[in-house]
Amino acid sequence: MSFPKGFLWGGSVSAAQCEGAWLEGGKSPVQVDYGDAGSTAGMRLIHYQNADGSRGKMHQFDSLPPGARYEIFDDIHYPNHEGIDFYHHYKEDIALFAEMGFTTFNTSISWARIYPKGVEGGVNREGVEFYRDVFKECRRYGMDPVITLYKYDEPVCLEEKYGGWQNRAMIDEFVEFARTCFSEYKDLVNKWLTFNEINVLTFFGGGDHPERLITLHHQMVAAARSVRVAHEIDPALRVGCMLCGLCSYPLTSDPADVAMNYKFFQDKFAYFGDTMVRGYYPSYAPRVWKEAGVHIDITEQDKTDLWEGKSDFLAYSYYMSITLTTHKDVLEKSGGNVGLGGVKNPYLKESDWGWPVDPAGYKYFLHLLNDRYQVPLFDVENGLGAYDKVEADGSIHDPYRIDYLREHIRNLREAVEEGVNIFGYTTWGPIDLVSASTGQVDKRYGFIYVDKNDRGEGDGHRVRKDSFYWYQKVIRSNGEDLE
Ligand code: BG6
Repeated sequence: MSFPKGFLWGGSVSAAQCEGAWLEGGKSPVQVDYGDAGSTAGMRLIHYQNADGSRGKMHQFDSLPPGARYEIFDDIHYPNHEGIDFYHHYKEDIALFAEMGFTTFNTSISWARIYPKGVEGGVNREGVEFYRDVFKECRRYGMDPVITLYKYDEPVCLEEKYGGWQNRAMIDEFVEFARTCFSEYKDLVNKWLTFNEINVLTFFGGGDHPERLITLHHQMVAAARSVRVAHEIDPALRVGCMLCGLCSYPLTSDPADVAMNYKFFQDKFAYFGDTMVRGYYPSYAPRVWKEAGVHIDITEQDKTDLWEGKSDFLAYSYYMSITLTTHKDVLEKSGGNVGLGGVKNPYLKESDWGWPVDPAGYKYFLHLLNDRYQVPLFDVENGLGAYDKVEADGSIHDPYRIDYLREHIRNLREAVEEGVNIFGYTTWGPIDLVSASTGQVDKRYGFIYVDKNDRGEGDGHRVRKDSFYWYQKVIRSNGEDLE
């Protein structure tokens, strides 16, 4: 057998993208609750009202202009308000995951359900019990859940109180939130992830926002302190960091392209992996700060926290690769990782959203991570967003999704055979949900179709796609049968 016995198979979703119930159960709003639905052509936008009453919209990684506040407008459809209503359907959905044979399941805990008014406002017991029920349901079917603490859903109340992560006070808020989660669920969950795709903040206009490196310093310190807290609560808890797996290539053999590619890897990926796994900033970090023109206040305590709170494992998402060049005459931009300025790779096909499909790059990237970090790896996200067609008889045939996953799992299997140390694989979106970048439901990732569309129409009923039965077979054979 290529995959070791006990290798974890499953799927991954997130609170904000599937739960809905945005104001139920004591939850307070998060920023993406104010986001609309974009399209293949454009990212979603967050809506707000300026101090003078005029309307405004911005990208989700940007900050509100002074005096503005998030606002709901009647003429906008807000997909996250209902999500796929996992909040009320989790038993049905987890039963379907169990039918596919999942041995793990990744979702995130909505911070705003646990502390709707920040730590000072106290714990919302209803939120705590909701997740306890979800995790118990997973355990009932023999799933070993891997749970994310922070996935693109910062409570608006904390942004209002502290002005966001530029403020060190957010570290304490987060660590208390993490402490509560570890203590409440330690008997149900023993594998945790701190910040989802922590490196993504540098992707979208990152160079224009040097202050984001301060935010990211605070988040990495918060993550490290959370690792320490988890180990104090129970030394058996395992806490990983989670990075967007950005596999990058130089377009040409021009040494300038090769150097550009390596610098990109350092700045957009390794800067985070190195700090969180090794426990200290890498030697090139001062160069990153100098180029950004930013000063980071790194205290002695921060250094101790980073060193003593090293991640137990490294988790990542992998969807695509990106290709870079210094050659200005190459004008054909790729849509992959939208803001990063990649160019089309002539050897790769792209998805409808312009994301280059690169299964061979997956194996290369796995070796890179394994060799560099020498800690266990965990795949949290891998999948294909596509339009699905419902046939007249209600069935959904999605061979493109099966092809994508088959080739990625094949490369994963080869990587395991070649010595890569990885303990699990969860596909992104085992059930259709709200896209993070575009807010669409019609950008579908699921093995399970949800009757909802980008305009919010549909009764939400669930349908097994062809890929459902395929993944069931993959899991049953522990990754041996991919046909
Ligand atoms: C990852 C995120 O970047 O990609 C998920 O962690 C996201 O939240 C996934 O949904 C797929 O991206 P998108 O934009 O297609 O939803």
